[in-house]
Amino acid sequence: MKYTSILTCLLGCVSLGYAQNKMPQAEEKKMQVFISNLMGKMTVDEKIGQLNLPSVGFDVTGPILSQGVDEKIEKGLVGGVFNTYTPQAVRKLQDIAVKQSRLKIPLLFGYDVVHGHKTIFPIPLGLSCTWDMSLIEKSARIAAKEASADGLSWTFSPMVDITRDPRWGRMSEGSGEDPYLGSLIAKAMVKGYQTNSLTRKDAILACVKHFALYGAAESGRDYNTTDMSLNRMYNEYLPPYRAAVNAGVASVMSSFNDINGVPATANKWLLTDVLRKQWGFSGFVVSDYTGINELVPHGLGNLQQVSVLALKAGVDMDMVGEGFLTTLKQSLNEKKISIADIDRACRRILEAKYKLGLFSDPYKYINEQRAATEILTPQNRADARMIAERSLVLLKNDKQVLPLKKSARIALIGPLADNRRDMIGNWSAAGDWQKAVSILEGLKNVAPQLDITYAKGANLVDDPLILKQINHNGADIVPDKRSPEELIRDAVSATKKADVAVVVLGESALMGGEATSRTSLDLLPNQKELLKAVTATGKPVVLVLMNSRPLTLEWEDANVSAILETWFAGTEAGNAIANVLTGNYNPSGKLTATFPHNVGQIPIYYNHKNTGRPYSGDLMDKYKSRYIDSPNEPLYPFGYGLSYTTFIYSPVTLSAATLTGTQTLQASVTVTNTGNFDGEEVVQLYIRDMVGSITRPVKELKGFEKIFLKKGESRKVTFNISVNDLKFYNNSLNYVAEPGDFKIFIGTNSRDVQEASFTLK
Ligand code: BGC
Repeated sequence: MKYTSILTCLLGCVSLGYAQNKMPQAEEKKMQVFISNLMGKMTVDEKIGQLNLPSVGFDVTGPILSQGVDEKIEKGLVGGVFNTYTPQAVRKLQDIAVKQSRLKIPLLFGYDVVHGHKTIFPIPLGLSCTWDMSLIEKSARIAAKEASADGLSWTFSPMVDITRDPRWGRMSEGSGEDPYLGSLIAKAMVKGYQTNSLTRKDAILACVKHFALYGAAESGRDYNTTDMSLNRMYNEYLPPYRAAVNAGVASVMSSFNDINGVPATANKWLLTDVLRKQWGFSGFVVSDYTGINELVPHGLGNLQQVSVLALKAGVDMDMVGEGFLTTLKQSLNEKKISIADIDRACRRILEAKYKLGLFSDPYKYINEQRAATEILTPQNRADARMIAERSLVLLKNDKQVLPLKKSARIALIGPLADNRRDMIGNWSAAGDWQKAVSILEGLKNVAPQLDITYAKGANLVDDPLILKQINHNGADIVPDKRSPEELIRDAVSATKKADVAVVVLGESALMGGEATSRTSLDLLPNQKELLKAVTATGKPVVLVLMNSRPLTLEWEDANVSAILETWFAGTEAGNAIANVLTGNYNPSGKLTATFPHNVGQIPIYYNHKNTGRPYSGDLMDKYKSRYIDSPNEPLYPFGYGLSYTTFIYSPVTLSAATLTGTQTLQASVTVTNTGNFDGEEVVQLYIRDMVGSITRPVKELKGFEKIFLKKGESRKVTFNISVNDLKFYNNSLNYVAEPGDFKIFIGTNSRDVQEASFTLK
């Protein structure tokens, strides 16, 4: 089918999403009257000014800096600013807007509050491994409370880009590879930031990003091209953005990447037809940092031309680039756009300000008292610790080397062991790493009886090329004066005197996030050498990992006793990790991104299609979809994560063998805690559509339940399956469930499952 005929069908076939946070009609009318009145007084320049979003202040998050911002605010040429906070800094600029500009229109204050404001939570990829929506919402709620107490009214979060490519450094900012889980998380975060009422003093605007498909960048290289079928888009990549829209997200950020030949920031189909007409989005769209200017090197024209394209496509606000500010008036005079195009965008920005209540109180978020008492409170830290504990994923635990005995002699080794700097991860907003807890500190806090000898063992980064780049961006890594051999020697000698070595390795926090694509996902060679030397002592080795993305850990998995993935766990990282290492908390995190054996397997993800020649594992079976030098399977599958206890699953029982119409089918298992610890388990439900009008994935997550079982305890877990759970976008992009056979899988991860079958009539 042709692109256009598919589009026509789309517009006709897909029902509108109804956003929460909608105003009652009378209120909406009042708002429109107010805004029409105001816009009646605005000059063209002032209207265009509302579309301008410069960056000011402390942080640089893109390639250029905004200039002359104060003067522009005074002239009414700024709609909002970002990268500054604190009541004092915000007051200074809001004062200019509401006291010195002609129409006294308040500013929005945006910032990348991505996983906490000052109290930093685990990086989003880590947060997603909790599989706990109430905790994820809570982290966003605390972030919004702190951000709003610090003058901010708008966060550039949640980032919901699905990705299947850990080479892409921004995997850390999202929730992994699954559209179902990603959608639930998108909703929870929007709710956490915005609550049900934007007029609350501690509610801020959320901004879902990066719309769209940014995580599917070719070769995992940041900002790179995406080319994708509509089928894949609708079924696999778009759902989390849509979930955010359905949850009432107030703003959307367009992404940098090209989509099937039209970069997102100039893509009318995406920003207007899909986002507004199909999904019913009624907020405003902001470009990403200089995203409009970047349409020039994308090859769409000069700055004036691309600014027209972006505005007409549906971008309302121009982040930093000033393409709108400097060219739209000329385009209006030359009749390349109409005043209605400008008015539309301007109205959307003013609506957001109105909804926040900024016209009644431009100083709503400026309150020194709140800033002094509501930020980094002991309670927020306690919540951050509790959430961090639940984000850690136990990947291996041979002979129950973990939890550590509280009186053990430990060699604590590695450049990330006595390290606060990296704990808060990338995009850690206003987070202060000096307030973070290192693992060494954490172990001393939670288990003072441990006998710990610390040895650094290796530099965090030795590779001169990587070191130069990340230090330029603030990694502050000072290479040790000792030689690599000396560092390793100390670590080995500490290990020899200990019962167990805990080796903390991984990436520097700044090796993840924006513009940090990697082609190797191995531990850096100097760290690997250290690990090999420590392992060669024959002592049990616990590898504690910190990293922004799945790594390739084949050697590690085969050679160390235990592996604990901790991502970058935030301000309370050290305490949380120590609690897990010592058994104060029994780990329950489950991977939300597949860990490959090697980079050659990428993209690798659990919900893939079957091919016509699926591989059964017989090495001599030549003409099959497989590698001759690697398994197809990942090292650790999606949904995987161990506990200190063990859970046994009964076979799946179904309430019926068929499902019809409005019925629901119950699929149940009994889970028993058969080990020696109380613990939590995420029971996962996957479904496979065996025959379809289009090919369907071998498994799709359709439900999960996190349960707590005391040792010896059993619990029956039941999932209700309805026709809705079986729907997908067919090739006409109709959202349908097709009659036929289905398989149900329930288990502890996407690989280890129990099966049953039913038929949809
Ligand atoms: C990033 C966005 C971020 C923006 C503002 C961009 O470079 O892609 O995620 O929100 O900068 O800091």
